[in-house]
Amino acid sequence: MRKKLIAGNWKMNNDVAESLILAERLKVLSEEFDERVDVLVCPPFTSLYAVNDALRTSGIKVGAQNMYFQDNGAYTGEISPKMLKSMGIKYVIIGHSERRQYFNETDEDVNKKLKAALKYSIIPILCIGETLKEREEKKEKQVIKNQVIRALENIKSSDVDKIIVAYEPIWAIGTGINATSMQANEMAIYCRSCISEIYSSSLADKLTILYGGSVKAGNAKEILSQSDIDGALVGGASLKAEEFFKIINFAK
Ligand code: 13P
Repeated sequence: MRKKLIAGNWKMNNDVAESLILAERLKVLSEEFDERVDVLVCPPFTSLYAVNDALRTSGIKVGAQNMYFQDNGAYTGEISPKMLKSMGIKYVIIGHSERRQYFNETDEDVNKKLKAALKYSIIPILCIGETLKEREEKKEKQVIKNQVIRALENIKSSDVDKIIVAYEPIWAIGTGINATSMQANEMAIYCRSCISEIYSSSLADKLTILYGGSVKAGNAKEILSQSDIDGALVGGASLKAEEFFKIINFAK
């Protein structure tokens, strides 16, 4: 049985003070969290240390939104997995479509970042997803398959075991238009079949697959009740503690 995970991606929102207010509110709400659901928040780098510290005694996990693949060196502005590890960070979002779109992150970068995260025992959340144009041209499955193959190149099955996949169709991110639960589940099933083809069906069965893209309290129940969706990667709705809490409650 795969455990559900509800992850909040705060993106470039919340300064340190705002982050701490949200973290403290989540901490209070977390006293009622169900142990069957894992909860993760990914604040911006500037708030990471403070939020991780504030949530240390809660059950809420804290992750980063990105990292570079080198351990250290002359890479101005970048953060390494070694640095995240030293802060006690156990999760990192890799290859979010906003990074691919605005910061030219390639599948090759994503592959290197996955390997680097795994080297430091940080659980990567690999984001994949097609554009609206690709879906209209009925290429969504091919796009997902290529992203999965390239991201996982030369990663052994004992490591794939530790990766979480987030299917986030780009047309659904921040648009208010979520994929229907059927569309989301179909893509999660397809993603699982890709893993089965590359590795094995038992590994595919174990893989945690999240859906992301305009998840809100109003649509979470249906999305999270799908057979192959093991949780959600929530953007905007994770910035409001009460709404995020409602989504978590639908994940039981
Ligand atoms: P929204 O929930 O704001 O659409 O963002 C989804 C997302 O990109 C999570 O990583």
